[in-house]
Amino acid sequence: MAIDIKSKPEIEKMRRTCRLAADVLDMIETHVRPGVTTLELDRICHEFIVRNGAYPAPLNYKGFPKSICTSINEVVCHGIPEARALLDGDIINIDITTIVDGYHGDTSEMFYVGEVDDAARKLIDVTRRSLWLGIEEVGPDKRIGDIGAAIVEYANRQHRYGVVEAFCGHGIGREFHTAPQVSHVGRRGTGMRMREGMTFTIEPMINEGTAHCEVLDDGWTAITRDGRLSAQAEHTVLVTANGFEVLTLRAAARQ
Ligand code: MF3
Ligand code: CO
Ligand code: CO
Repeated sequence: MAIDIKSKPEIEKMRRTCRLAADVLDMIETHVRPGVTTLELDRICHEFIVRNGAYPAPLNYKGFPKSICTSINEVVCHGIPEARALLDGDIINIDITTIVDGYHGDTSEMFYVGEVDDAARKLIDVTRRSLWLGIEEVGPDKRIGDIGAAIVEYANRQHRYGVVEAFCGHGIGREFHTAPQVSHVGRRGTGMRMREGMTFTIEPMINEGTAHCEVLDDGWTAITRDGRLSAQAEHTVLVTANGFEVLTLRAAARQ
């Protein structure tokens, strides 16, 4: 499948949608605390996105019923917001995908609910670092397999965590999920070569224990097979002439 190369005006549209997706994470962070329900977080994000002239891509996507994904503790990804309250010590991934002017921006981040123990903090630190090690492999003529290789070398070889294989990063633009598939367990020197103007996500899911997942009967919620914790972080990136541009940087990380 041919991978599309964004034009200058399309890249500007990608920048706008991705900046809004990152702004949603900044906005929702203060609402994440013990007692809040993921349904409330969903409503607040939905209203913010719509108020900013955008649409929440998950809503009705292949039947997904809500506007964001909320994945708590052993949930690997695609958790569905519900009426249950967050508990002190939980960890949660909030995954935001906006559509602005027909273009998708996709980013997710981990948040602590109240006080979180050291094991969970370490898992989250390693997950964030592994995302950035993957990002640093992005550039023109480089190979897509090197992204996942960098992630697995660090998160698995070095830290003995399970790197999820069942879900991948993806090309993004007018479509939510398109080619290329970006594995988080790639091999060095394999896969297609990246080209300037490509946009895709990198979104490693890192498990405390086994990498294996199961999907619940709701058809969406993926959990760890062993019930141990999972963490995820996601950015949308652009391949530039010299390397990469992270399109979903949060406000504090923008220059
Ligand atoms: N945002 C998720 C991703 O990173 C996809 C969510 S699809 C949904 O690819 F339907 F669950 F929302
Ligand atoms: Co994604
Ligand atoms: Co996402």
